[in-house]
Amino acid sequence: MSIQVTPNGEACGAIVAGIDLSNPVSSEEIAEIRKAWLEHHVLIFPKQVLTDDDLERVSLYFGEFGVDPFIKPIEGHKNIIAIQREADETSPIFADIWHTDWSFQEVPPAGTCLYSVDVPPEGGDTLYANQHLALEKMPEDLRKRLEGKYAFHSAMMGYSKKGSYGDKDEGRSMVIEASDDALEKQAHPIIRQHPESGKEAIFGTAIAYMVGIEGMPQKEGMDLLMELQRWQVQEEFVYRHKWENNMLVIWDNRSVLHKATGGYEGYRRELHRTTVADDVSRWKEKPVMRNTSISEDQSESVAKERISISGADDIMAQLKPAVDTFGGFPNPVKMNFGTAGVFHISGKDIVREDRQADCTISMAPEVFELVINGDIDVMGAVMEGKVQVEGDSSIAISLQGLF
Ligand SMILES: [Fe+2]
Repeated sequence: MSIQVTPNGEACGAIVAGIDLSNPVSSEEIAEIRKAWLEHHVLIFPKQVLTDDDLERVSLYFGEFGVDPFIKPIEGHKNIIAIQREADETSPIFADIWHTDWSFQEVPPAGTCLYSVDVPPEGGDTLYANQHLALEKMPEDLRKRLEGKYAFHSAMMGYSKKGSYGDKDEGRSMVIEASDDALEKQAHPIIRQHPESGKEAIFGTAIAYMVGIEGMPQKEGMDLLMELQRWQVQEEFVYRHKWENNMLVIWDNRSVLHKATGGYEGYRRELHRTTVADDVSRWKEKPVMRNTSISEDQSESVAKERISISGADDIMAQLKPAVDTFGGFPNPVKMNFGTAGVFHISGKDIVREDRQADCTISMAPEVFELVINGDIDVMGAVMEGKVQVEGDSSIAISLQGLF
């Protein structure tokens, strides 16, 4: 039986057949698979019946185990985490914003292996965006503005105590241990050579985990990163992967971004994951690493420039694109804007409960900072501790840290 690698005809990805991963794999076969991995970035191995021991053994064909912070491993396997959600779980879908795994680490993982244990009959697809292709097709003007720049990567939006998986995250079956270690930052080049293939790619995305650009004012840096994100996850660069049970996927974190999706309410979903460390000795060039600790100034310097809008219709008109740009709110939020009405935001859906008299809202969508003038009441647990009173009649709700 020989290995067959069939490109899936999408922006990235190939299906691998002719190999049974439940048995040991020869070094020749490993070399062949690695070559296909570097070429297609996402390898899909259907119909593989693997135990957790097998999953660990297969991961080690690609490199040492990476370090998985913040998420508790499964019993008896310290290098495996379960990406799981119970049928009756109502917590927001895990990791449904674009990212590349643990890019805030000094040497982020080369790859991630994900094996399906229990997949729902519908929904729960994983999206992959090819970052070689996105760079290749990038307009010259945007590329020029990114060339030579380093982005700060941090897990603060997700895994700090105030992050979306922090103290306010409840009812989740995955055990996530948020920590203020997540406030650390690490700079990586935005455009970098793939360490093994030497081919250039965009590395990482806002806002998981890119949180600013070295040497640029915070707002300007985030504006550029958001413009980059709008470019890098366009449909033509994206492959939508549909899961079947007993399927192993290994992707190259240095080449693709990925994102979970929901759409399987009422069904259970469980996949087991390992990360594969990058091996700096394989790199064609020595990596340039810059370790940076977070500065108070930077964390405070959120956008000061605000867009003024008036009335309930304007709230909708301004909130909608902002929520879409950031991939939706991970936690359902209910906002009572007093005389302007009550808004429910869940994922990307915004529903106005009531239309009443006008009030004024100023908003900086790039950081989700809303400044609401008027007689305001704000509800929803995720808002707690993020509401600042500005003078007698306005309240600033900083949604930074929700992601
Ligand atoms: Fe991920």
